[in-house]
Amino acid sequence: MAQLQGKWKIWDEDTEEPELYRYLVAELDKLGLAYLHIMHGGNEPLLNDIRKLWKGTLILNRPGRPREQIGSDVASGLADLESYGQMVLANPDFVERVKTNAPMNEPQPATYYGGAAQGYTDYPTL
Ligand SMILES: Cc1cc2nc3c(=O)[nH]c(=O)nc-3n(C[C@H](O)[C@H](O)[C@H](O)COP(=O)(O)O)c2cc1C
Repeated sequence: MAQLQGKWKIWDEDTEEPELYRYLVAELDKLGLAYLHIMHGGNEPLLNDIRKLWKGTLILNRPGRPREQIGSDVASGLADLESYGQMVLANPDFVERVKTNAPMNEPQPATYYGGAAQGYTDYPTL
């Protein structure tokens, strides 16, 4: 678990102790927090357990989620919300593109964390 920009976020993949995360989420659930935001690493059984252990709003980030899978975790009930990083960064009109099935701009990792506007404000809209 790491604190980034004042928000707590759990990485569920880099642990060799999924049991620790089951314990952690059950304890966090008792605190009445607004939401839990997970960056999922691929341990599906653990994710399913977290869904059951966490009674509040669950936000799920699947790094590199393919476009065809947008909405699938909400539809299945595994998550209340899905979060997107790179695809939204690269597509200022992300929602419009999803709605109209338009192609997405490819994110450019070379401009990540650059400290300047380039790569943050200059991706083209449709
Ligand atoms: C440029 C950039 C900045 C990011 N900053 C943060 C951050 O401040 N806090 C955070 O929790 N995750 C941050 N992330 C990680 C994303 O939230 C996300 O977990 C990751 O990019 C994988 O999901 P994606 O494939 O949908 O982008 C950042 C990612 C990128 C590419």
